[in-house]
Amino acid sequence: MIDKIWYRTQDEKWDAVDAFISGQFLEDDAALIATLAASEAAGMPPIQVAPLQGKLLMMLGRAMNARKILEIGTLGGYSTIRLARGLGEGGRLVTLDHHAAYAEIARDNIANAELSDKVEIRVGKALDTLPKLEAEGEGPFDLVFIDADKPNTPDYFDWAVKLSRPGSLIVVDNVVREGAILAEKSENPNVKGLREFYARAAADPCVTATAFQTVGDKGHDGLAIVLVTGKP
Ligand code: SAH
Ligand code: DHB
Ligand code: MG
Repeated sequence: MIDKIWYRTQDEKWDAVDAFISGQFLEDDAALIATLAASEAAGMPPIQVAPLQGKLLMMLGRAMNARKILEIGTLGGYSTIRLARGLGEGGRLVTLDHHAAYAEIARDNIANAELSDKVEIRVGKALDTLPKLEAEGEGPFDLVFIDADKPNTPDYFDWAVKLSRPGSLIVVDNVVREGAILAEKSENPNVKGLREFYARAAADPCVTATAFQTVGDKGHDGLAIVLVTGKP
């Protein structure tokens, strides 16, 4: 499957540069190390954001003084912990995952990181939970991180815009996939979903967007960053 390739295309120089930058800028972090270990022990796939990208998520939240963060795709809570640490004083994070067993592990990892009072995990299919959040008057979210099943990414993006305010940031993971997104006629549902996300973000007059490619720890992939600008 084309969408699994990046685990096998590690490049020595990319890895060495990642190791160098990590050595310069990443602090030893017991809670994150424990989260990765517990996630692996629970049999989760090793698809957390790369460490340096996780730190970026924290920094974005902190720079915006985010009070409300939404995450779609919790896994073991690795990116959740990063994001929650970026919350401003009194802030809250809601994270969505349909996998109850994952949520349980994530809950422990988040407790171990002393973030339980700030984080709420909602178990269920994200497309069922998102309308509930809206009905409950949750939001607007300052920062949204979309990192769940790729075929639904376009719909998660629309929900993220709906639950945002002008000035909110929406970050979308895995938007390059070894360049698989170049395949216009791809029948791969992940590729189709990501291409449709680009099309919607490009056409949406309420946002302006960019994306960058990443190499190293997770092979060749990328992150999109979308700024909600409000109605034109
Ligand atoms: N953000 C995490 C990685 C998430 S992996 C990190 O970087 O640490 C993707 C997650 O999305 C998985 O845990 C999977 O269970 C979840 N997921 C997949 N489809 C989903 C759906 N329809 N609704 C909610 N969660 C879903
Ligand atoms: C997959 C999902 C991710 O969010 C990721 O970062 C890497 C891989 C996957 O479903 O294979
Ligand atoms: Mg991802």
